Amino acid sequence: MIPANTESGGQGAKGAGGTPRPLTLRGVVFEPALFCAPMASITHSAFRRLLADFGGYGALFTEMLSAKTILGEDRERSAFLKRRPQEGKVIYQLLAWETHRLDETIERLSPLKPDGLDLNLACSAWSVTKAGGGAALCEDPQRLAGIVRVMRRSFAGPLFAKLRLGREAEGWRERLGERLRLLEGEGVDAVTVHPRFHEEKFKRSARHRLYAELAAGTRLPIIASGDIGGQEDCRALAAELSPAAGVMIGRMAAACPWVFARWRDPGLTVDHAEVWRRLCAYVAEDFEPGQALIRLKVIAPYFGRNLFFGHRFFVEVHNAPDLAAVRERTERFFSVPPRLCRSVAVGGI
Ligand SMILES: Cc1cc2nc3c(=O)[nH]c(=O)nc-3n(C[C@H](O)[C@H](O)[C@H](O)COP(=O)(O)O)c2cc1C
Repeated sequence: MIPANTESGGQGAKGAGGTPRPLTLRGVVFEPALFCAPMASITHSAFRRLLADFGGYGALFTEMLSAKTILGEDRERSAFLKRRPQEGKVIYQLLAWETHRLDETIERLSPLKPDGLDLNLACSAWSVTKAGGGAALCEDPQRLAGIVRVMRRSFAGPLFAKLRLGREAEGWRERLGERLRLLEGEGVDAVTVHPRFHEEKFKRSARHRLYAELAAGTRLPIIASGDIGGQEDCRALAAELSPAAGVMIGRMAAACPWVFARWRDPGLTVDHAEVWRRLCAYVAEDFEPGQALIRLKVIAPYFGRNLFFGHRFFVEVHNAPDLAAVRERTERFFSVPPRLCRSVAVGGI
């Protein structure tokens, strides 16, 4: 067993002005400890390139990657795997459900020099749990221990795991405590906790108050995820987030890829039409047309939340038959300078 190796201040959200302090894991410094969440169909190479144009984060997570994807893709060309130097630190999230060929999978990633590997223990989509991955793996301590052991043995850098609170059933606190101890014992270096139950998806609010209790029960640095939309939220939630060693932002980054840059530069203004155009160009460069169209349709409802008539923007993209139509329809939409929402909210998508 390799012990967790943390040289963190461990007080991420307590930094000045709500800026998480650096987090150091196995010699890798995440500065600030501000992370873009793994998001399926969103945090591909094209979107990470757009985030990198703005900067301000400590690391980006890829979307969850199944072993099949990793073994079958062209590392240098695949939008799931490739990374550009300007992205900075990239943590690859794995969707694993068995140890078979897991070491080979990790070995295949090594030329990409991941700054960390993350194990998905949170996803409760049927397509993931039916194979025993994500939330289902979290419910199976023996299989989980085997998988983490192989990951630890095969990768010398920071090892993360991302989980929710588990099933909402009697004993969830004890089960969650046991999982954290298991991950700690098997050499995981940090965990991301999205404090909702598996069944909840995005219902109810994230239970940020639990971070104090969770942090008291583990030596692992905890990265807070869920309903955190930027620096203002970090300030407002300072007490609840202070036991966390870092902060992760998901849906708000999909809506506002400049969210991390605003930390450094609160006055930063953006030209929404130009950013959307750039995203279309990046996605079209990295994906074949059919896949590019799907990616733009997934992100459109989030990006639309910036706009007063965001629903119309979303419908234009959603109904577009191809990439050319997306471009043409959104150009028409932006031909009249759009009214912007004063505050952006991503709930309910
Ligand atoms: C479209 C979408 C895709 C997601 N895909 C993943 C994923 O691949 N792996 C994962 O661990 N979490 C995934 N999540 C969960 C996010 O990483 C994050 O924990 C969650 O959205 C809560 O954070 P937020 O309120 O900042 O969005 C996804 C969330 C969304 C909205």
